[in-house]
Amino acid sequence: MDRRTFLQSTAALASVAIATSSASAQIASESLDRDSDAFWETIRAQYKVTDEFTNLNAGHWGIMSEPVLEAFVEHTRYINAYSSYYVSHGIQVYPDAENYGVDRREVISMLARKLGVSPEELVLTRGATESLQLLISGYNNLEEGDTVLFGDAAYYSMEAEMRHLKVHRGCNVVELKVPDPATFENQIEVFEQGIKDNPKTKLLLLTHMANRTGVIIPIKEITAMARGYGVDVIVDAAHSWGQYDFDFADQGVDFVGFNLHKWIGAPLGVGLMYIKKDRIKDIDTKSSKGEPGNTNINTRTQTGTMNLAAVMAVKDALLFLDNIGIDHIDRRFRALRHQWVKEFLDDDRVDILSPEDERMHAGLTSFRIKAHPDARELGKTLLRDYNINTAPIPELNGIRVAPGLYSSKADMDKLANAIKDIISKM
Ligand SMILES: Cc1ncc(COP(=O)(O)O)c(C=O)c1O
Repeated sequence: MDRRTFLQSTAALASVAIATSSASAQIASESLDRDSDAFWETIRAQYKVTDEFTNLNAGHWGIMSEPVLEAFVEHTRYINAYSSYYVSHGIQVYPDAENYGVDRREVISMLARKLGVSPEELVLTRGATESLQLLISGYNNLEEGDTVLFGDAAYYSMEAEMRHLKVHRGCNVVELKVPDPATFENQIEVFEQGIKDNPKTKLLLLTHMANRTGVIIPIKEITAMARGYGVDVIVDAAHSWGQYDFDFADQGVDFVGFNLHKWIGAPLGVGLMYIKKDRIKDIDTKSSKGEPGNTNINTRTQTGTMNLAAVMAVKDALLFLDNIGIDHIDRRFRALRHQWVKEFLDDDRVDILSPEDERMHAGLTSFRIKAHPDARELGKTLLRDYNINTAPIPELNGIRVAPGLYSSKADMDKLANAIKDIISKM
């Protein structure tokens, strides 16, 4: 029985769309301008987000749209019914049967097409952390006494992995203080100065979009600069791909960790690792098949059993986004950011923690009320008194605001009014 027949024969699924069909976003009317609020109302209607509070923390992970969620549930039912037949034994007896290998390759091909890279340069993981841990700990061009650098915007677990290179490879680990406010130029300068100050630098970690501020740094320019000094770069792209429109293949990067459960809208627990084909040898193997000389990227991970239904649903998530268009998503996130940020650009009681330079922000952005002493308390106030869920960033005394595709301009107005109200009561 093929998957479609199985799903159709399952009584419980009678009311649900068939998973093997695409979970495309339902575009209500082709005549609607895709940058209009009316269009985005139709997208919002495809998300079931709680109405107990306004969720402005899409940065933790992305809520699945209903078509993607339904597809995921159906994939789960299928896997639950077919069990290991789908992954292994069935393939040997019925080579033409639908199987995980075929589905996984299709997902990888779609991802490769979207990124403009070869499928041989991609492997699935369980998240950005896993991808980046594999890249950082597996980077095998380090010798004792070499220096590795990262900026102070690095994500906590990546910082820990970089620091571990001291124990693991005997490296000198240097954290650079990144200038604030950030400019396109000072982000390049700080890493160049860091390399000049540490002539034995071999490896640099870049966080494409900082999770604490939303600042986007010029990874293309920094990577090209670092290459001039013989320094390799690993990029943490946990927040960038899917949130804004950029040409990945044009960045000239070699080693990148992504997740697919934030801005791609896939189920929790799926990530992606990119290694440029001729650099795969520079990352240690993790598999018993990874004898020297094997440059199959699949030997660079060892994830164990993954959530197969989540992997299958990556395809549905990509189709959903495709049907909207990344250019429109990019403009929508910028419009949502602008909706609340504009209220404070001339207000010196509030700091906006990502620059107005279009190249350096997308939708996610943090703020600080200068006179407020405690970000955790401010976050609690926003939730308790104004019903707005955000992410407090205590290290910066800031609050991170991350709208999703389901957010409206009214949500952003609600936030701006709450901030004004809190200030007026201080
Ligand atoms: C910059 C950055 N890198 C990596 C991660 C980790 O991502 P994942 O949950 O996919 O492991 C996060 C999560 O918030 C992040 O913000």
